[in-house]
Amino acid sequence: MTQIGGVQPWFLGLTLQLILAALLHQGLATVAPPTTAQTTAAPHKDPGRPEKGNYVVTSSNGTSCLLASMGLQLNITFNSVSQNKTVQEVLNLRPNVTKSSGSCNSDRASLLLSTDAEKTNLTFIFTLNATSNKYHLSEVSLSADLSDMKERFSATNRSLDLLRGTFGFSYMCHEEQTLTVAQDFSINTFQLQVQPFGLSGDQFGAAEECQLDEDDMLIPIVVGAALAGLVLIVLLAYLIGRKRSHAGYQTI
Ligand SMILES: *[C@@H]1O[C@H](CO)[C@@H](O)[C@H](O)[C@H]1NC(C)=O
Ligand SMILES: *[C@@H]1O[C@H](CO)[C@@H](O)[C@H](O)[C@H]1NC(C)=O
Ligand SMILES: *[C@@H]1O[C@H](CO)[C@@H](O)[C@H](O)[C@H]1NC(C)=O
Ligand SMILES: *[C@@H]1O[C@H](CO)[C@@H](O)[C@H](O)[C@H]1NC(C)=O
Repeated sequence: MTQIGGVQPWFLGLTLQLILAALLHQGLATVAPPTTAQTTAAPHKDPGRPEKGNYVVTSSNGTSCLLASMGLQLNITFNSVSQNKTVQEVLNLRPNVTKSSGSCNSDRASLLLSTDAEKTNLTFIFTLNATSNKYHLSEVSLSADLSDMKERFSATNRSLDLLRGTFGFSYMCHEEQTLTVAQDFSINTFQLQVQPFGLSGDQFGAAEECQLDEDDMLIPIVVGAALAGLVLIVLLAYLIGRKRSHAGYQTI
């Protein structure tokens, strides 16, 4: 058997395979956590992932002016009747029992999601800055009257700066994102895509991806680059080794 720089070829091949396996395993391990972390971090009455709903707001002339596609989870802290103390409850918005409505102006668009069964009214208000052509979620309010609540829950925040996008583009975030509205109320969004301004027909415009998603895409890219680098190194080592052993035979 020919030697490569003093190393058996089968040894190099085996080493490469081991390194590849280790890298791939590591890559998968780093991609996996989001789903597992979610289930372990949640409290004991975790409602699971919310179903994705598609909501449309139609303007007075009959065209769609706001589109939203998302799974929503409400995280509310309130006084419980049954437990006679402050509790924190996480509940999913069920699209099939949620009605959407709203209105659109040139610089302000609202989406109201009402559920009969859960007795909740959730409002999102987006604002457009006509100078910069950027929009953001500026206001969220929730009114809820769950059976276990001592009194009706209500929370409003009019100074939010979330889900920032550009006029004519949609804002997209596949990863779970938390929108903190008040101390006692936050919203977890899943597979979110929303566009409050500048729709082309009834379709979303091109998507602007959130930072969380971009970070997620970075992992496969880094792993891929590392693999390519490794293959190159092994190939170089092999070629150099072959050259050396040839040279070795000649001098003998
Ligand atoms: C709900 O909110 C509380 C308090 O902000 C937080 O500790 C908890 O992790 C949240 N739960 C979920 C599932 O988002
Ligand atoms: C709109 O954007 C411009 C340019 O970025 C900024 O100077 C202005 O303060 C913004 N207006 C509002 C109401 O936020
Ligand atoms: C939600 O809105 C409807 C219609 O405005 C109202 O009748 C209902 O009382 C509201 N529910 C809560 C919990 O605020
Ligand atoms: C509204 O949200 C802003 C930004 O997250 C926060 O600083 C502020 O405390 C919130 N206001 C209320 C009333 O919770």
